[in-house]
Amino acid sequence: SPGADYQAENATIVGGVVEANHTGYTGTGFVNYDNAAGGYVEFTVNAAVAGNHALAVRYSNGTTTDRPLDVSVNGSVVAPAVSFPSTTTWDTWATRTVNAALTAGANTVRLTGSSAAGGPNLDKLGVAAPTDTESPTV
Ligand code: GCU
Repeated sequence: SPGADYQAENATIVGGVVEANHTGYTGTGFVNYDNAAGGYVEFTVNAAVAGNHALAVRYSNGTTTDRPLDVSVNGSVVAPAVSFPSTTTWDTWATRTVNAALTAGANTVRLTGSSAAGGPNLDKLGVAAPTDTESPTV
């Protein structure tokens, strides 16, 4: 399957606001995390099958300081303090990808700001088709 995109502005947002005052986002806006640790954006992600999926986080960070996010799946941190380094300006976006196991059906993917500055601006989460962990049989 080709995977799916989930817009941050449509997710559950705690400790952040939807804004659209920079260029280059997809959808109708992005999430500006509060400048404090603990704010999060939580997506409900549907997986057709269980297995490893690539979670592609599109973000902007116009500061010179990292804005790390904890990545949790179904309530467990699977990748702590993933680095979201500077993109130079708030109009410039980049994508960081984290691989995580999803169960078949609905999963919650939560991205939580783990530093005092809060998270970067968050555009969307892309979820790619599962990676094949088995060798082909010939
Ligand atoms: C600026 C910028 C916001 C950003 C904020 C921050 O205010 O315009 O989009 O979220 O800095 O530092 O988090």
